[in-house]
Amino acid sequence: MASKRTHVLIIGPQGSGKGTQAALVAPRLGLVHVATGDLFRALMASEGALAREVRSYYERGALVPDDLTVRVLLSRLEELDRCDPDYRGVLLDGFPRNRAQAEALDAVLRERGDELVAAIHLVVPRDVLIERLSGRLVCQQCGATYHRTFNPPRQPGICDRCGGPVIQRSDDTPEAIARRLDIYEEQTAPLLDYYRQRGLLIDIVGDRPIDEVSRAILAALAPRLGA
Ligand code: AP5
Ligand code: MG
Repeated sequence: MASKRTHVLIIGPQGSGKGTQAALVAPRLGLVHVATGDLFRALMASEGALAREVRSYYERGALVPDDLTVRVLLSRLEELDRCDPDYRGVLLDGFPRNRAQAEALDAVLRERGDELVAAIHLVVPRDVLIERLSGRLVCQQCGATYHRTFNPPRQPGICDRCGGPVIQRSDDTPEAIARRLDIYEEQTAPLLDYYRQRGLLIDIVGDRPIDEVSRAILAALAPRLGA
């Protein structure tokens, strides 16, 4: 039986840098980056009824229903248990996004005997978020994130990491961006108090250069992870 896992989650509005930071800091902390958005993008790359269902929510900027989201997350955790029984824990990006998902996560952790040790909250003003999302580019093959101005790939249109094609995400349209930010305010922002009351929330200023934000996250997590 593997020892108890220690997990961290990263929370913040769309464009605050959750995916960018999680990809940079997770390997430094010995955590596995698990992003529900990435799991859905992988699912949508396949064909079939489930892919079509996810696409119908995703492309409008709406949340995928909770029961399906929790199922997709659980199946990824089970896969990690099977493939890497000694992994330390996950850095959860994009989950939970509402009260029902937060309670589902608590139940999953209780059942597994795992612990959530921190919730990193990236704080970024709304005008900066819109600028970031409008210029975001992602690798269609490996999911690496870029920005036309702030963090462009070395060769235009080609991923530095894997050489795959770098494109705009299908939910980075002005309508879907506005909808996603509204849903964040209504459903996800109330979770900040949920984690603050338990002493888990750590506010990090996200409107700084990417490497400065990473350093702040690593410094804040070191005592909680015994790093
Ligand atoms: P998801 O993929 O999670 O997208 P999101 O929540 O909309 O968040 P983003 O990925 O847009 O923002 P981010 O904070 O990761 O920013 P990033 O690092 O890319 O979810 C997509 C969809 O899937 C949802 O809308 C929903 O349909 C579904 N879904 C996912 N999870 C779900 C759940 N739990 N329940 C239900 N449905 C779910 O950075 C953005 C840009 O800024 C990039 O271009 C980056 O290069 C740039 N940047 C980052 N940091 C900096 C910096 N410090 N300075 C300058 N530029 C920066
Ligand atoms: Mg992301």
